[in-house]
Amino acid sequence: MADREGNIDAKDFGLGIPQKNGEGFFLKGNAHAPWGMKDRLSRIFNPKSGHSVMLAFDHGFIMGPTSGLERMDLTIVPLIEYSDCIMCTRGALRSIVPPTCAKPISYRFDVGTSILTDLNDQTLQDIDEAIRLNVSMLACMVAIGDPVHEGRTVANMSKTVDMGNRYGIPTLGVTAVGKNLVRDARYLGLASRICAENGANVIKTYFCEEKFEQVTNACPVPIVIAGGKKLEEKAALDMAWRAIDQGASGVDMGRNIFQSDSPVGMILAVRAIVHDGASVEQAYEMYQTYKSENQK
Ligand code: R5P
Repeated sequence: MADREGNIDAKDFGLGIPQKNGEGFFLKGNAHAPWGMKDRLSRIFNPKSGHSVMLAFDHGFIMGPTSGLERMDLTIVPLIEYSDCIMCTRGALRSIVPPTCAKPISYRFDVGTSILTDLNDQTLQDIDEAIRLNVSMLACMVAIGDPVHEGRTVANMSKTVDMGNRYGIPTLGVTAVGKNLVRDARYLGLASRICAENGANVIKTYFCEEKFEQVTNACPVPIVIAGGKKLEEKAALDMAWRAIDQGASGVDMGRNIFQSDSPVGMILAVRAIVHDGASVEQAYEMYQTYKSENQK
């Protein structure tokens, strides 16, 4: 049996050394994926920057109409054009997302319990539905450390990978929210790595203040960060900058964009960091300028 404590003392993260065996494809850990999967990943991640700004608005599937998502037709649709990819449920897709938006979809593929009961009791949808909706990635969450739901959610992700592989659709392993989530490098590194080892092509996890570069370095596939609860705009931009600086391949951000007082200004500022190497100051100025020029 592997050493349960082994991860505590892990220290040889090869910081600064690019991952090997990635020749021929720009996205970490996906050089050996088949053509269709590479095509889908190249729509989600910009092959020039290697990064992605995903706009997440799937929160309603566990939270209901949370702030900023009460009327997604009014608040989210105007933001879609500024994203590289949208992360949402089938209900949102069918009801408010114009099919003409032509954005790749990171599709909430697992469904389950809400914030009112016990989070993370999940099951999977039918792959036929994902194919009908022409999705580019299947998102499935994994509740590492949850004594009740860990095994089931790992099995869900493994099945998602199997179904995605059958049709050339990559899997996004999402490290779950819930009482077991610990925002430190040990937990996030362990949860991300377990998703990758079970076949996820991309991982969504959280940023942590210390040693985040260990999380990205120990994960053989790209990591995108969720934004988490709403922060002051400059703090959210600072988090995005530090995540990219420490090896993240993008953001899958929701509340820090759609709950901002200038959602378009904020997503433009995030884009500048993720794709153009803007500093936090430059990006914040971009947000402020957009906000002041577009105040009602
Ligand atoms: C949560 O229900 C979803 O998985 C979100 O997509 C994720 O948490 C990212 O959104 P936020 O940036 O608001 O945390």
